[in-house]
Amino acid sequence: MLTRCLLFLIVSVIVLSKSAETSSFLVMNDHKIVGGQTTVEGAPYQISLQGLDYNNGQYVHFCGGSILTEKHIVTAAHCLMGFPVENITIVVGTSTWDVGGVRHAVQKYEIHEKYEMLETCDIGIITLVDPLEFNDKVQPIAFNDEYVPGNVSCILTGWGYTFPLRAPSFLPYWFISFFRLYPKDLQIAQLRTISNEECSRRFLGKELRTEMCTYVWSKGACAGDSGGPVVNMDQNLLIGIVSYGSSNCGGYTGVPDVHTRVSQFTSWIQERIKIY
Ligand SMILES: *[C@@H]1O[C@H](CO)[C@@H](O)[C@H](O)[C@H]1NC(C)=O
Ligand SMILES: *[C@@H]1O[C@H](CO)[C@@H](O)[C@H](O)[C@H]1NC(C)=O
Repeated sequence: MLTRCLLFLIVSVIVLSKSAETSSFLVMNDHKIVGGQTTVEGAPYQISLQGLDYNNGQYVHFCGGSILTEKHIVTAAHCLMGFPVENITIVVGTSTWDVGGVRHAVQKYEIHEKYEMLETCDIGIITLVDPLEFNDKVQPIAFNDEYVPGNVSCILTGWGYTFPLRAPSFLPYWFISFFRLYPKDLQIAQLRTISNEECSRRFLGKELRTEMCTYVWSKGACAGDSGGPVVNMDQNLLIGIVSYGSSNCGGYTGVPDVHTRVSQFTSWIQERIKIY
C-alpha cells in the first residue's frame, strides 16, 4: 500500500511537471471519488448514467447526474456527447448502482451550444420518457444562482473510482465492469471550494470561464464521478457539476477538481426544464 502510494506520488510529480495534464471525468476517461461511503438517502438527487455493455447485455455505470425535476436530469456535456439516446439509461433511488433502484429511458438530451471539451460549458440536460416517482430515495435538488466564492464547504457524491488513478481510455466497458473498477456503493467526499484565481494558479495559468474548483489534499473526484453533483453544505443547493481534473485523482498532485459553475447556467437550465 505504502509502496503504491510512493509510486503514485512519483508518477504524480512527473505528471504535474508535465504541465498539469487534465482529463474529463467521463466514461472510460472519467473521474471518481477518493473519499468515504454514503447512501442514496443522503443524496437522493444522485443518479447513475449507464450504458449498455454489448458483450453481456448489462448496463454499466459511467457518469453521475442530478435530478432537477421529475423529468429532467442535469449532467456534464462530456457524459452525453456522441451517445445515441437509446444507448443510455439512468438509474435513480439506489446506493448500489447495479442493484435495485428504478431504471428510466431517455427521451432526449441537450448539450450546451457553447460546450468545448476541457474548456467551457460542460453541461447537458436529459429529458426522461417517464416521470420519476419521488420518495425518500429520489428527490430533486434546487440549484444555486449566486456566485460561490472560495472556502465553501461542499459535498461530492458518485460512483467514480476510489483509487487515485484513472483507467486508460482504451479500456472497454466489459473490462471496467469485470475488474469492478467502479465501486458498487455510493461514495461521498467533503470538499472545499477554492477561488478561481487560486484554481487557475494551481492549473499553471489555465483560464476558467464557466467553472468553479474544489481542492482538498487526498480527496476529490475521479473517473465515473463526471456529471455528478457538488452541493454546498449550508444550503444543500447544487453548485457544481463534476467536469475535469488531473489525470491522477485525489488532489495528490496539487491539481484541483474543476466543476461546471451552476450559477452561470441558471437561465439556460430554467428555459429547458420549464417545457415538458
Ligand atoms: C448504440 O447501440 C447499438 C446497439 O443497440 C450499437 O450497435 C452502437 O454501437 C451503439 N453506439 C454507441 C455510440 O455506443
Ligand atoms: C475557511 O472557512 C473556515 C470556516 O468554515 C474558517 O475557519 C477558515 O479560517 C477559512 N479559511 C480562509 C483561508 O478563509
